[in-house]
Amino acid sequence: MAKLFFKETYSPLSSDEIIAKEKANMDNKRFKHCVRVSETSRKLAKLNNYDEDKAALAGFVHDYAKQEYRKVIKTQGFDQDLLNWNRSIWHGIVGTYFIKRDLKITDKEILTAVDRHTTGDVKMTTLDKIVFMADFIEPGRDFPGVDEARKITFANLDDGVGFQLAHTLSYLIKDRNKIYPRTFKAYNVWSTKKK
Ligand SMILES: [Fe+2]
Ligand SMILES: [Fe+2]
Repeated sequence: MAKLFFKETYSPLSSDEIIAKEKANMDNKRFKHCVRVSETSRKLAKLNNYDEDKAALAGFVHDYAKQEYRKVIKTQGFDQDLLNWNRSIWHGIVGTYFIKRDLKITDKEILTAVDRHTTGDVKMTTLDKIVFMADFIEPGRDFPGVDEARKITFANLDDGVGFQLAHTLSYLIKDRNKIYPRTFKAYNVWSTKKK
């Protein structure tokens, strides 16, 4: 693993401070996942002519969140419908609040990519897609279809987004889980067959 380093372009905190805060905020397993998402984001950025350093930082912080979700949703202007959902949705959308507060990152593009990483969205920027896909295909991921997901994503980022949404929806439906409306809408845009 190359030594982690983030330029101080997007936060007044130093690279070491961001890394230390991230490490203190999660167990080692999740920290390593974030490092791999960062590295995979960098790779996807290069393939898609996007700022590699920015993508690496967004990937690194994508799972930074704290356990005060309900309080933050109630007091910080979030959609109150979020209270009907759970951590798997909150940690991206509400995670943006913690990233601003603790890591002092205010860049809209980075925050939006974190916001959308658990749900996808109808409109996704290149950075949104990079983080969304890096989270899904980082080298630690192991699920039936992951090799295909990697192949598709490295060939075409948009096709990767479509693949992930279809894959996630089919798993959620198989277990009779609720689907977050934004994910449904995203599926209709990215994953249905173009006739
Ligand atoms: Fe996540
Ligand atoms: Fe993640």
